[in-house]
Amino acid sequence: YEADHSEATAASDASKRVKIGIYFATWWALNVVFNIYNKKVLNAYPYPWLTSTLSLAAGSLIMLISWSLRIAETPKTDFDFWKTLFPVTVAHTIGHVAATVSMSKVAVSFTHIIKSGEPAFSVLVSRFLLGETFPVSVYLSLLPIIGGCALAAVTELNFNMIGFMGAMISNLAFVFRNIFSKKGMKGKSVSGMNYYACLSMLSLLILTPFAIAVEGPQMWAAGFQKALSEIGPQIVWWMAAQSVFYHLYNQVSYMSLDEISPLTFSIGNTMKRISVIVSSIIIFHTPVQPVNALGAAIAILGTFLYSQVIHVHIGLSIIELQMTCFDQ
Ligand code: 3PG
Repeated sequence: YEADHSEATAASDASKRVKIGIYFATWWALNVVFNIYNKKVLNAYPYPWLTSTLSLAAGSLIMLISWSLRIAETPKTDFDFWKTLFPVTVAHTIGHVAATVSMSKVAVSFTHIIKSGEPAFSVLVSRFLLGETFPVSVYLSLLPIIGGCALAAVTELNFNMIGFMGAMISNLAFVFRNIFSKKGMKGKSVSGMNYYACLSMLSLLILTPFAIAVEGPQMWAAGFQKALSEIGPQIVWWMAAQSVFYHLYNQVSYMSLDEISPLTFSIGNTMKRISVIVSSIIIFHTPVQPVNALGAAIAILGTFLYSQVIHVHIGLSIIELQMTCFDQ
């Protein structure tokens, strides 16, 4: 019986791994396609507030259709659900717009190099705002992340302050999004896919008035005529592609969050950035100096180092917690 049981466990572990592997590969591939179309659109039609809004609108529409055709089950939500979702959505909206504004000003690769510094923001926010303490090894592992990002930033050929700050604000906002959503998804009855759908819809409601205030229909219409005359009707397909792929990659990432820990999720997210950085440099012929590439490599290696050290820290905290419970 025991042999059968362990064989069954091994088989279910293996199938879980395959499933997560498929999620990750799909998530990264969709993200690469999103980043390419997003930048193509922003180059020809530089209205990041509008394109950010359209991404959310496309996602909301896809999900409303899926619910009404019963392709996806309509979630059962109550007032409490939307109340806990609200802070997550505010942080998601800020992080999303800030990243898009950043990409409208600098190379996609630069935005993602700065965004690979997200773990450093996570530790600093947890330490200074939530009072959580970490072993020295965790703080030390932040040095290559911060140093690598700084080196990449000072040697970036097309440095732009708005582009840099946008990526930094996005890092900070997404750390809060992750902290709030960890609380929001705990014990929830809504699946990852539907959780992200509700997030998109609420985010769309929040963002639309701001997008109109910052850019507005007049600018959008004039810019669109210009883009249409330079690129042709293809620009509409590019905009549709960036919007749809934005929703799809986020949906798959939230579906994988159902299966994995937030830490594995953030490691997966950094690995995703490697594929985005490399493919966007190739596609957009981004000029890279060797020292600039070195900065990016150090930052990303730093993230791996951090993930190893924090894994040990979390593991030890769990053991400590279990021992305390046992003692009691
Ligand atoms: C966005 O527009 O929201 C950003 O591109 C998101 O970046 P990330 O999902 O890669 O963190």
